[in-house]
Amino acid sequence: MTYKIAVLAGDGIGPEIVTQARKVIDAVVEKFGHDFEYTEALVGAVAIDKVGNPYPDETHELCMNSDAVLFGSIGHPKFDNDPSAKVRPEQGLLAMRKKLGLYANLRPVNTFKSLIHKSPLKLELVDGADFMCIRELTSGMYFGRPQGRSEDGQTAYDTCVYTVEEIERIVRLGFEYAGKRRKKLTIVDKANVLATSRLWREVSQRIEPEFPEIEVEYMFVDNAAMQIITCPKRFDVMVTENMFGDILTDEASVIAGSMGMLPSASIGVHTSVFEPIHGSYPQATGKNIANPCATVLSAAMMFEYAFGMMKEGALIRKAVDMSLEAGVVTEDIADGKKAYSTSEVGDWLANFVKNI
Ligand code: IPM
Ligand code: MG
Repeated sequence: MTYKIAVLAGDGIGPEIVTQARKVIDAVVEKFGHDFEYTEALVGAVAIDKVGNPYPDETHELCMNSDAVLFGSIGHPKFDNDPSAKVRPEQGLLAMRKKLGLYANLRPVNTFKSLIHKSPLKLELVDGADFMCIRELTSGMYFGRPQGRSEDGQTAYDTCVYTVEEIERIVRLGFEYAGKRRKKLTIVDKANVLATSRLWREVSQRIEPEFPEIEVEYMFVDNAAMQIITCPKRFDVMVTENMFGDILTDEASVIAGSMGMLPSASIGVHTSVFEPIHGSYPQATGKNIANPCATVLSAAMMFEYAFGMMKEGALIRKAVDMSLEAGVVTEDIADGKKAYSTSEVGDWLANFVKNI
């Protein structure tokens, strides 16, 4: 069988890091005798520049007809600095998530043995931290309407909306993942203030008895933000709404030591998307210095989650671990030692896979 991979490299460092992930995927595919076919498509600022739409219909068609999507990053400073821009690259990412029905974003947070000293947190706090943040991805404030400005321009508003159905499917997924792991689920909300959070709690409490083996705790998001830093090891699976998940996972990336190490899988109704959690890092664009590991590890998640190819995923993880151990790393984690370029790290990883 030929696996069809849609490649949406996007903006900034996207093309550079996706190229490295492809090298590693190619090495794995060759080793295990699989057949992968890539098709590239436009997304983000580059798509706005070329066709005026950050998620063109052709790109959506391709994603729908593929077995998995490998995604780089989107965003461009010219839009960040222009709040009046009518079309924004981020709308492309949001449209893709919505149209593909990717309601769950799985963001594993863990440490890497040889990187642990890079975390600004105390070693004994982070050593052994290992949890999965499940972020709701197609609703909440990101998509709630109305959103906009009053006619006189003096007021702006966003709306946070959640339906019972949306909460139920993501919370259920949280319980299921907790069942596959250490059987502890933390449901993060702000139920002391927000109506949507109170609905989350109500729905979650209704589902709870279906999973008697899971230990459930409810935690306010401000407390969760503190606990991620002060005792990250207490978490096993965390499930939360879109905006909270966005913020908490950037925060959690300090546990791993660099944003450049955190992969993610977005799953739901249609084709799954595999993307690093970091953004387009405009300052590094074209410099061949960005860390490709988050994208390479997203490729590992692609093998595991989209195709059930666990050995292939494990081999990629091993390659990343070994590169860290060998000190073949980009400048964000080089710690004053020799820093390798993006492509050198990609080559090293692909060669490791080929030669093991
Ligand atoms: C992420 C990013 C996106 C988000 C941006 C680029 C719209 O920060 O995937 O976490 O907020 O979801
Ligand atoms: Mg984010």
